[in-house]
Amino acid sequence: MIRAKNIHKFYGTLEVLKGVDIHIKPAEVISIVGESGAGKSTLLQILGTLDRPSDIEKYQTEITLDGQSFLGMKDKDLSKFRNRNIGFVFQNHQLLPEFTALENVLLPTKIAGIAEKEVIDKAHSLFEDLNIAHRLHHKPSELSGGESQRVAVARALINSPKIIYADEPTGNLDSKNADALHQLFFDLRDKYKQTFVIVTHNMVLAESTDRKLMMKDGQIINNK
Ligand SMILES: Nc1ncnc2c1ncn2[C@@H]1O[C@H](COP(=O)(O)OP(=O)(O)O)[C@@H](O)[C@H]1O
Ligand SMILES: [Mg+2]
Repeated sequence: MIRAKNIHKFYGTLEVLKGVDIHIKPAEVISIVGESGAGKSTLLQILGTLDRPSDIEKYQTEITLDGQSFLGMKDKDLSKFRNRNIGFVFQNHQLLPEFTALENVLLPTKIAGIAEKEVIDKAHSLFEDLNIAHRLHHKPSELSGGESQRVAVARALINSPKIIYADEPTGNLDSKNADALHQLFFDLRDKYKQTFVIVTHNMVLAESTDRKLMMKDGQIINNK
């Protein structure tokens, strides 16, 4: 699903990614662990097309998603590519406060130019899957932390992305809500063959994923 080679990232003279290779298979749930500052979020942003690696010609950097190379795309094409192919879940749900849960989840479909009638059934079934069907018309301020994160997961899933990147998705949840969200990731993988890359400090989650990658000082130190 993802093949990446020689990812480097500099902020000024600070090298925060020092040649990362990563290979992720379809329907794999991968965790990335490592100390704060190791470069986990930077890597996720680059794999997710939200940021670009440094000096790609010098390092002969390559990244493909489902066989498609995207590093050469212009920003506008890249936005479209991201909207169609990639979902994100962040530590803070980042839902828009003035919209209801359902409207937040439908937003990526509107950006993709998909008519509401084509996706409304899917939206409803995601709300069912994620146990938030009773919260469709609530605004984010009326949702609990766990509910907000599940709405954010529904939003990440609505366009049937090839991959979902989650950056400490349960970092702000209590352990009960965190466990429930973790279980949902595995259920969604089983039901939709969804591929997930999850950055986490939760060792129970990390140990239960298909593969745990450990980052240290800008490198993955346990890559096979
Ligand atoms: N926009 C930025 N400008 C300068 N330095 C940054 C920027 N983003 C991240 N860094 C630095 O890059 C390193 C890796 O950060 P990050 O990828 O957020 O690590 P992690 O997610 O593993 O905690 C850190 O030293 C951080 O301070
Ligand atoms: Mg981080």
